[in-house]
Parts: sequence; structure tokens; C-alpha cells
Amino acid sequence: MTLPARALSVVVCGAGPASEVGQLVKLALERGWTVQVVSTPAALGFLDTTAIEAQTGSPVRSQYRNPGEPRSRPADAIIVAPATYNTINKWAQGISDTYALGVLAEATGLSVPIVVLPFVNSALAARAPFRRSVEELRREGVRILLGPGGVEPHEPHTGGELITSYPWHLAFNEVEQPGAAADFAEVVDHKRAFGASG
Ligand SMILES: Cc1cc2nc3c(=O)[nH]c(=O)nc-3n(C[C@H](O)[C@H](O)[C@H](O)COP(=O)(O)O)c2cc1C
Repeated sequence: MTLPARALSVVVCGAGPASEVGQLVKLALERGWTVQVVSTPAALGFLDTTAIEAQTGSPVRSQYRNPGEPRSRPADAIIVAPATYNTINKWAQGISDTYALGVLAEATGLSVPIVVLPFVNSALAARAPFRRSVEELRREGVRILLGPGGVEPHEPHTGGELITSYPWHLAFNEVEQPGAAADFAEVVDHKRAFGASG
């Protein structure tokens, strides 16, 4: 019997690497996942939705469905990439004012594996609200690949030069092999300390 393909949702936020999300979709499709791309409203301006829909065979979702329309398949895992300052902060605060944040809010509560690959400059990453958000999401079991083994915040106004070297593979490896990224030990410790499940 053939096992059904695992379902990966990719939540894309409004930052430069969003234009290259097809690279992550390709990696996942090659490894046998089905892929659904969820876009924040801001990310839509960066994306070639027609190309992504052709690649995945599914519509790019940025809004809640209308009553009576079919639900998307529940995700077995979620990657948030590129993850913005805005979405990370709102998600940690429990705000759900976009479809993407609604997906993340519920998946966090359900302990669906979620891997986050931020794309944030060093000025924003140094802000106390952002550091608190990262800490709080990690306590809830979200794997945030920020710092050693993940992405380092970049100098302000240099993001455009880093789009082509954005390390999509780190997020995908972490989904396939939990613990592949260096900070995972820290996440496990948080989960033990704070009793998060999943
Ligand atoms: C060209 C451009 C590049 C941007 N790059 C980033 C970025 O690298 N990181 C970031 O956090 N926000 C970046 N922003 C700002 C976000 O798009 C903005 O905060 C937006 O509200 C994010 O919404 P979202 O989190 O719902 O996607 C950029 C905006 C533009 C127009």
C-alpha cells in the first residue's frame, strides 16, 4: 500500500526571499511532500503565485475560505519562511488578523511541528519585543532557526544582496530531521522546562 504524501504548509511573509520560495517547494516536492503555500497579504507582492500554483498544484492561500468552500488539508509540518519581524511578533502575541497568522495560531496549539527561518535585520532583531517573541515561541515548541546553525540577522539595508543565499535547505532539513539545526537542543530544554508537548 502506498502511504499518502506528507503535507507541508509553507507560510511566506513579506520579505525579499519570498520571491524565491519555489526553491523550497522544489526541495519538498522532490522528497515526496505535497505542498500548500500560504501567503501573508504583504508577501503576495513578492510572489509569482501563478508559478507556485503550477508547481504545487494548489492555490496560494492568503485569505480564509468562504463558508461551504473545501478546507485545506491539515499540515503534517509547517515552515515559515521568510519569517518577518512583523509576523513573528504578532504570532507570539496571539494575534490572528491574517489567514497566515490564523494557521500558525492553531497549529501551535495543536503542536504541529513548525520550523521558522527568519529574515530580519540586526536593528529589528535587537529589539526587546522581538527577542521576547522568539523566546516565547520557542517555549511553545516552535523551532526558530535564528543564530548559530540558522540565519544570523543581517546589517540594515543589505537584505537585497542576501536573497539568493537565503538558506531554504536549513528549514527543510529541520522538518525532515528534527534536531538538525544547532539550536534544537535549546528548544528541547525549553520544552522540558516549561512542559510544552509535541
Ligand atoms: C522590499 C521590502 C523588503 C522588506 N524586507 C523585510 C525583511 O527583510 N524583513 C522584515 O521583517 N520585513 C521586511 N519588509 C517589511 C514587511 O514587508 C512589513 O513589515 C510587512 O508588514 C510584513 O507583513 P507580514 O509579516 O504579514 O508578511 C520589507 C518590505 C519591503 C517592501
